This record gives sequence, C-alpha cells and structure tokens, in this order.
Amino acid sequence: MEEDLKTSAKGKILSIRDLPTLPRVLDEVSRLVQNPNTTIEAIAKVISRDQVLSAKVLKMVNSPVYGFPGRISSIQHSLVLLGFNVIRGVIISTSVFDIMAKAMEGLWEHSIGCALATGLIARKAGLKDPEEYSVCGLLHDLGKVVAAVQLPDLHKAVGETVRSQDLRWLEAEKAVLGFGHDRINSWLAEHWHLPPNIKEAMGSHHFPERAQLYPLHAAAVHVGDFVVRVFEYGSGGDDQAVPLNPQALKTLNISLSDLDSVLDGFAEDLSEVSGVNFMPEDGPASSGAAAG
Ligand SMILES: [Fe+2]
Ligand SMILES: [Fe+2]
Repeated sequence: MEEDLKTSAKGKILSIRDLPTLPRVLDEVSRLVQNPNTTIEAIAKVISRDQVLSAKVLKMVNSPVYGFPGRISSIQHSLVLLGFNVIRGVIISTSVFDIMAKAMEGLWEHSIGCALATGLIARKAGLKDPEEYSVCGLLHDLGKVVAAVQLPDLHKAVGETVRSQDLRWLEAEKAVLGFGHDRINSWLAEHWHLPPNIKEAMGSHHFPERAQLYPLHAAAVHVGDFVVRVFEYGSGGDDQAVPLNPQALKTLNISLSDLDSVLDGFAEDLSEVSGVNFMPEDGPASSGAAAG
C-alpha cells in the first residue's frame, strides 16, 4: 500500500510537464545545448525572446547572490560569465518559484538566502566556479515546491504533521509521503537533465556524507542551509534548527572561525538581497518574514 502511494506520487510529481510555470524556452534551450555546434549567441537569442523571463534572469544574476552586482547587461553576457548550467538553474528557479510564494510562504526567501550563503561558503573554501554552488543552493528545496503544486493534499498533510507532531519538514514528508524532498529533487534533476553536481547537491543536502561524486557541492549546500536557518531568513516549512553535520566543514576544509566570517558576510549581504524584489512586477514583494 505504502509502495503504491510512493509510485503514484512519484508519477504525479514527474508529470511536471503540466506545470504551467516552466517556460517553453527551457526545452528549446536544453535541446540547443546538446548540439556541440550551438553558439552562445544562439542560446542567448532564444532566452531573450521571452522578455519577462530575461528580465527575471538579469535581475537574479545582477543581485548580490552572484557577486556581479549591476554589471551584467545582457543574457549573452550572463551566459559568458556564469555558464549555461547556472543560467538554466536560474531559469528553473525563477520560473517555478513564482508560484512558491503562494505554495509555501517564506520558501523563496529561504532559497535565495541559501544561494547567497552557499556561494559565500564556496568562496571561503576557495572552490572553483562558486556561481555553480550558488545555483545548487537556489534549487536545493525545489522538491518542496513541486510537491506543493503536484500533490496539494499531501503537501497540506505534511504541513499539518509538522505542526501537530513538532517535526522537521523532511521528517514529516517521510511520514506522510514515504520520501523526502531530497528524493524528489533527484527525480526532478534527472528529469530535467541537470548536471550531476547540481543533481547530487540537491539530492544530498540533508545527508552530505552520502554524496558519491560531488561531496563539496552537497556539503556547501548543507552548510548554506544551516546558515540561512541561523538567520531565520524565510522559511523551509518548519521552525526547527537544522543540525550542522561537522563532517561537512571537514569536507570543505573550513574551520569554525571561517564559518563565523561567512556568517558575518551573510549578514552584510542579506540586507541588500532582501531589498531586491525577484518576483514579477505584479507578484508579492520579497520579504524576510520568517514563517513557521
Ligand atoms: Fe531541504
Ligand atoms: Fe532548505
């Protein structure tokens, strides 16, 4: 019975094509990238055709989350600087997360905060391509949004279980659905052919020690998730403190005093990030409200 529920829930989640918020551009761009002869100009052209989407992508890449504040003027420029994988992650997040404000209060802010923190951690650890780490942070709880949209009744039951049993969101998901958003993340990443580093970070952010190929990505997002919760910026669905796995710091080769300086940097950048309204013009403003 439980297995049936699991299979049908997975099927429902992966009927994600029905999600009205994912732009058609995404499929088109993914197809283009598979052709080695495709130029950056061609990809930029396709994305730029969708003006609303382009505006959202530019807003995100010019925010303090990516460390190029106000300096990226076009989609082509953003592809050159950040790479296709980062831009694709930004497209997915800004599209899906439009509905997030309604689906789960505070999750958008939690995700933006995690992206910011994860990028700071990657820089502190001296890792290459810190923007790829930021995008892992941005997408790390995507499974929660997709479950909210695709399985609204079960999602509601998860929220009720969190409140009535004082559980963490992940534990309540396991109790109600039989799997957590980390598992949903892996399905989604597979479904969208996301690169393996992003996939592993999304799937292993709660248990970074399980990461097989990209332990640094999983560990950075794990610590990023911890940092954003320390500041209670936004909400991951519950108000429980997330235990920090000390192994994650070891994997990243950063000390507790390094973590301290990340917390300081985060506090500094947060006021700037929280001032940016990432939502569409008619959507709700970005706010730092910590919801339970
Ligand atoms: Fe999570
Ligand atoms: Fe989270």
